[in-house]
Amino acid sequence: MMTESGSQDTEIPVVIIDNDRNILELTSLILLKSGFQPYVADSAREGLELISCHSPELVLLAHMMPEMDGLSVLQRIKARFPETYVVMIIGKGSEGIAVELLKKGASEYILKPFNNRNLVVRLKNVLRIREIELHNRELQKKQERLVSEIELRNMELEKRVREKCDELQNAQEEIVQSEKLAAIGYLSAGVAHEIRNPLNSIALFVQLMRQTTTEPDHLVHQAKIINEVARIDSIIRKFLDSSRRTRLISSNVQIDQAIDNVIEAFLPQIEARKIKVNRQYHCIPPPITADPNDLEQIFTNLFLNALDAMSRGGCLVIELFAEDRRVIVRVVDSGKGIAKDVLPCIFEPFFTTKSRGTGMGLPVAQRIARMYEGSMEVEHSSSEGTTFRLEFPLFS
Ligand SMILES: Nc1ncnc2c1ncn2[C@@H]1O[C@H](COP(=O)(O)OP(=O)(O)OP(=O)(O)O)[C@@H](O)[C@H]1O
Ligand SMILES: [Mg+2]
Repeated sequence: MMTESGSQDTEIPVVIIDNDRNILELTSLILLKSGFQPYVADSAREGLELISCHSPELVLLAHMMPEMDGLSVLQRIKARFPETYVVMIIGKGSEGIAVELLKKGASEYILKPFNNRNLVVRLKNVLRIREIELHNRELQKKQERLVSEIELRNMELEKRVREKCDELQNAQEEIVQSEKLAAIGYLSAGVAHEIRNPLNSIALFVQLMRQTTTEPDHLVHQAKIINEVARIDSIIRKFLDSSRRTRLISSNVQIDQAIDNVIEAFLPQIEARKIKVNRQYHCIPPPITADPNDLEQIFTNLFLNALDAMSRGGCLVIELFAEDRRVIVRVVDSGKGIAKDVLPCIFEPFFTTKSRGTGMGLPVAQRIARMYEGSMEVEHSSSEGTTFRLEFPLFS
């Protein structure tokens, strides 16, 4: 039997499940008069169907039923419809079970036989408690949502602060480096002149001595002095390169041309070391505005390092392509690579791992790239070789 008594939508739906038809009739009459909309079922199966169909706020459930005991029905209802509150109907003499039923999720119990007023008052109480509890649950959910939203925002904020700190640190490092370079430039411009004059004299006097010496030992020593003087001179020239000089800016500098010029100049060393050069110009990018000497300086420093790293031969690949209004050059060597602990220092002025290096090649090249609003970085390095990546913006 599955019946519906009354039909007003505004009334509170209640499902009554009991195998005792008298109880069903009586309770549904009482409830109907008190503003409820009762749906009655005389078996647990039908009762569950009614619940799933009407989503009632309340269920009145008999504890003792032949087909399924009230406790199992209660557990099923609470598992499937957590917002439906259950009031158990228990017969006199079964009060002992009441505590267990409350523990298992019943909200209230009513002893048979019950009187009208008592039943309605108890049900309305349960409804009030239900309303408060559901409201609390909703508030708790809202609070949890807010807490997790705050946590998320916090994490985002922390991430942004970290990023800004890193940017700041990088900017500070760049400032320190460019200040170092500026100081070197300033000093070297002054000192270079002072040093190069006496150096010239030394070289001249040694040349003179060579003309009058026949002693083989002396000749060897003099040649060494001349070599060392030449080395000092080249170091001073490098310092001068890192200082400001008059630039000859032109608006139609072809990067591919700058690369070709430098490769051309290095051909004797490239051939002597049996290095294969592979130029992969995927496009000839539009010209950029720069001093061609600056661009050649960048590639000179990069290729010098690549040749140093490939003392026993290898392959030098130069890739050129355009991407998002930027010209990109990748210089890939098959040399010994840059050790992980060395990598963070290679753009620092004076940092070198070479016995005769000055540590000026990369910082100067990077400073020039940045001067043209470009960038220069190590894209990859392993024992198989190193890839440097250069980017220059294309201004139309
Ligand atoms: N292609 C490369 N392969 C391996 N190591 C490299 C490469 N390029 C740079 N390095 C490392 O970075 C260091 C710094 O390079 P940088 O060009 O600034 O100075 P350097 O070559 O030592 O001296 P300089 O260029 O002034 O004669 C080098 O000493 C080397 O350890
Ligand atoms: Mg170098």
